[in-house]
Amino acid sequence: MKPILEIEKLDAGYNSLKVLEDVDMFLDKKEIVAIIGPNGAGKSTVIKAIFGIANQTGGKIVLNGKDISTLKTHELIKEGVCYVNQGRVIFGDLSVKENLEIGTRLEKDKKELNKRLEEVYQRFPILKERAKESAYTLSGGQQQMLALGRALMQKPKVLLLDEPSLGLSPKLQKEIFQIIKDLRDEGISIMIVEQNAKKAIEIADRTYLLENGKVALVGKGKDLLRNKKIKQIYLGGA
Ligand SMILES: Nc1ncnc2c1ncn2[C@@H]1O[C@H](COP(=O)(O)OP(=O)(O)OP(=O)(O)O)[C@@H](O)[C@H]1O
Ligand SMILES: [Mg+2]
Repeated sequence: MKPILEIEKLDAGYNSLKVLEDVDMFLDKKEIVAIIGPNGAGKSTVIKAIFGIANQTGGKIVLNGKDISTLKTHELIKEGVCYVNQGRVIFGDLSVKENLEIGTRLEKDKKELNKRLEEVYQRFPILKERAKESAYTLSGGQQQMLALGRALMQKPKVLLLDEPSLGLSPKLQKEIFQIIKDLRDEGISIMIVEQNAKKAIEIADRTYLLENGKVALVGKGKDLLRNKKIKQIYLGGA
């Protein structure tokens, strides 16, 4: 089976700043791939480049066999690619429900809109309870759920998540990681940037270690946890 997403020799950055060099990665269908690495390594830039918000200067990004390197963000969403920013981005003055509806372009198809809303509410009951309230009244964890819920409203095939557990309590982190695994099991392919290397390796089917804009290591969960380099750098001890 061909991967759903292939990144080949990607160079990317911002204006004159080159961040990524020759990055090769792939994402299989129904797979969770994690990207870990130190601050500034370029983790967020990988998924921003895929989503068309970092500047791609070389290489190819291929979705289902189609080169999507030059597609704009709104075109990528149509192709089934969705992105949840590092640090939750919600519209605080809008209600929870409005935050979910925004960008779905389903104004004319209320039936489909309500169906999707119901699906999101089932996964995140708290969002249903708080549907009419302003989004800024939500706690940090609830806002994170809202940001994820909004991406799910688009029915993504590929979900790009930048640090979804950032700032959450251990309990909420566990919840969000469980939801991410459920989404994978339901058929969504997920690329996740995660600060917590151990957590990332535990939930991911495969993990890339990024250092200085280059892939330094790639491996499957358990093997990586035994990797000396990973142990020393990220897990505090040899
Ligand atoms: N919008 C931007 N404009 C200019 N430079 C940027 C921009 N975003 C990121 N950078 C720079 O690109 C480099 C890689 O940043 P990136 O956000 O990809 O790192 P990261 O691995 O996600 O780090 P972190 O763990 O801190 O989130 C850094 O040197 C950063 O300062
Ligand atoms: Mg980042």
